[in-house]
Amino acid sequence: MSAVSEEVLLLGPGPSPTSRSVQRAQARPLLGHLDPEFTPVLDRVQAGLRTLFGTRNALTLPLAGTGSSGMEAMVCNLVEPGDRVVVGVHGIFGRRFADAVRRAGADAVEVEVPFGAPLDPAAIVAAVQAAPTRLCVVVHAETSTGVLTDLRAIAAGVLETGALFGVDCVTSIAGVPLDFDEIGVDAAFCGTQKCLSVPPGLAPVTFSERAMERVRARTHPVPFYFDTTLLTGYFGAERSYHYTAPVSMVYALEAALDEIEAEGLEARFRRHRDVAAALRRGLALLGLEPLVAVEHATPMLTTVCYPDGVDDGTFRTHLRQRHRIEVGGGLGPLAGKVFRVGLMGHGARLENVSRAVAAFGDALSASGRSVDVDAALAAVHAR
Ligand SMILES: Cc1ncc(COP(=O)(O)O)c(C=O)c1O
Repeated sequence: MSAVSEEVLLLGPGPSPTSRSVQRAQARPLLGHLDPEFTPVLDRVQAGLRTLFGTRNALTLPLAGTGSSGMEAMVCNLVEPGDRVVVGVHGIFGRRFADAVRRAGADAVEVEVPFGAPLDPAAIVAAVQAAPTRLCVVVHAETSTGVLTDLRAIAAGVLETGALFGVDCVTSIAGVPLDFDEIGVDAAFCGTQKCLSVPPGLAPVTFSERAMERVRARTHPVPFYFDTTLLTGYFGAERSYHYTAPVSMVYALEAALDEIEAEGLEARFRRHRDVAAALRRGLALLGLEPLVAVEHATPMLTTVCYPDGVDDGTFRTHLRQRHRIEVGGGLGPLAGKVFRVGLMGHGARLENVSRAVAAFGDALSASGRSVDVDAALAAVHAR
């Protein structure tokens, strides 16, 4: 067995830290995936996910696989070769969705803005209106930049055309409200390793009845693993075998959903907003500037611009080696220019903000900049 090293504080773009209760749940003795004592756990998890998605969709379930498997499930159930799909692109995860659409033999129309800017709802709706479109997809919280998308500003215009509206909520779920039924979202996928604070390995998905009608009308079969009809056999009343569900991961997700229910959604969303604000106050006193204006920023992930002369590799290695803190580097055009700080789920705590701000100050000092860490820490705790 590999040596267990001292704990690393995960303050990057995911995975986020897990609680003891989630860790204990994952270590519970195994049951079979069709065991009558296990299947009620599935029901509870599906109900908890519906609450988080803000939906009554029957097809709401935790797929085995990381967030990207949820993306594949959306593409291969809702898109057929030759379909037109409009994708909002404001970071690498929008680009990745467009790539998945093309691999499925469909036409991906990318409506792009520069990394760091919010999507342009009018441009997306205009692109959907321009030609018959099967699906329009946007990333809610774009993890490569830290920009949050205004779903309401896009949904109505898209739905009027008859296109389906899909959302990647990998980073936003359990950190900000989703309200998908109210907004009119037809399909969404996420991952467990961000604000749910469960290890990576499950991809909760939800499909509306309108989306399921589309699946039933397909002329091409859906790949076996992601076939929503077969998945319904296992996750619905029938409980027929589709694949060997990752039982321990489902236990972990159940424990996380219990914790979220005990905390209360509003309190959880407020906690994410409060720590993000505290981080921004601390960063300002260190002379560090967030990439995204606060009105467009995700609370759970803040992208921070490096001042001139601070090297990305040196800075993040210092954090990891001296302070045992992981933050993320920039992706795509932002590589080397920014670092990404995730305050997600169990990790979204004021004490973690203090530890991070003190470590950032130390790493800046090590690169020759003069900073007042005490003032930055006082700002973190100022109300
Ligand atoms: C917004 C977004 N979409 C999709 C993904 C892909 O998820 P995974 O890496 O779990 O496959 C990520 C992962 O960070 C993400 O942040």
